[in-house]
Amino acid sequence: MYPIKQVFVFLKYGDYQCAEDQWTLMENRNAFSRILFRPRILIDVSKIDMTTTVLGFKISMPIMVAPTAMQKMAHPDGEYATARASAAAGTIMTLSSWATSSVEEVASTGPGVRFFQLYVYKDRSVVTQLVKRAEKAGFKAIVLTVDTPRLGRRESDIKNRFVLPQNLSLKNFDGLNLGKLDKTDDSGLASYVAGQVDRSLSWKDVKWLKSITPLPILVKGVLTAEDARIAVQSGVAGIIVSNHGARQLDYVPATITALEEVVEATQRRVPVFLDGGVRRGTDVFKALALGASGVFIGRPVIFSLAVDGEAGVRKTLQMLHDELELTMALSGCCSLAEITRNHIVAPWDPLR
Ligand code: FNR
Repeated sequence: MYPIKQVFVFLKYGDYQCAEDQWTLMENRNAFSRILFRPRILIDVSKIDMTTTVLGFKISMPIMVAPTAMQKMAHPDGEYATARASAAAGTIMTLSSWATSSVEEVASTGPGVRFFQLYVYKDRSVVTQLVKRAEKAGFKAIVLTVDTPRLGRRESDIKNRFVLPQNLSLKNFDGLNLGKLDKTDDSGLASYVAGQVDRSLSWKDVKWLKSITPLPILVKGVLTAEDARIAVQSGVAGIIVSNHGARQLDYVPATITALEEVVEATQRRVPVFLDGGVRRGTDVFKALALGASGVFIGRPVIFSLAVDGEAGVRKTLQMLHDELELTMALSGCCSLAEITRNHIVAPWDPLR
């Protein structure tokens, strides 16, 4: 465990690693607070079932772990701790391409359903090798991040001249000589992205990715109905409505605000998930009421990892589980299928 002072520094910078004015960072939270409940009463809620199925995998609750890079900066056990905590909670962990533990290392922690998040490098042989390794290590889906042709302007990273500490590397890329970030006058990560990540990535590359792997592909970073329709046509297995935790383009809407148009555009042909600002069971309920099949959490995992490693992440997942269960009980819903649009009222709804 890190000394508490260091945890505070981490919490501070954790939130400052966002794009520009951080308007979207605030909005990801504020937008949830503008959605209110329309609870139903006198319904037998003595038994509540929160289980669900994602891409055919049964999980304990509709709350999963988003990919966040470099978790060993938060705690020495890093991704190992997150993998064990997610498996213990019966839910899915998504491992970042830029993890400080490799796909093989994370797989070695034991059973658990895991997805692999992919950044597409200019050198496609690097991508192919990585996807094959993820498959071999038992990862069940590829989460293709599509909102990062360049890194957003994260001003604290620039001020701090962010690089990885000496003892850490982007473990998936170690053998490819791409595991280190060089020190620059700017953010080391922004320079790394500019050098390695393929800015020309387009919808045709989704087809290419499908041609190199049998794994289902989720696109992460969709915010509009237009792109949701193209995603469905491209044959993706699902969509994650995400603004990258407000770290890419500032002044995009909160994800909870963009969710409904994306869900409607897919005409329920693929599942739609959401991440961004989910901090409470009530937030999860609101996302489900607006049509999400589940949510992912990013910062709550990193922060709890920093405080207490695996035990911290377990606690966070348990707290969210319990809060969602309580929200369902107090809204009169015994199963996720019983959560409907009528259980909430959003600011954009017509006056009743
Ligand atoms: C991220 N996120 C992210 N996304 C991704 O596709 N690959 C990555 O490597 C990372 N790394 C990363 C690091 C840190 C420190 C943060 C805060 C976020 C974005 C992440 O997957 C997710 O979209 C957001 O974190 C969700 O928002 P909340 O839950 O953090 O508000």
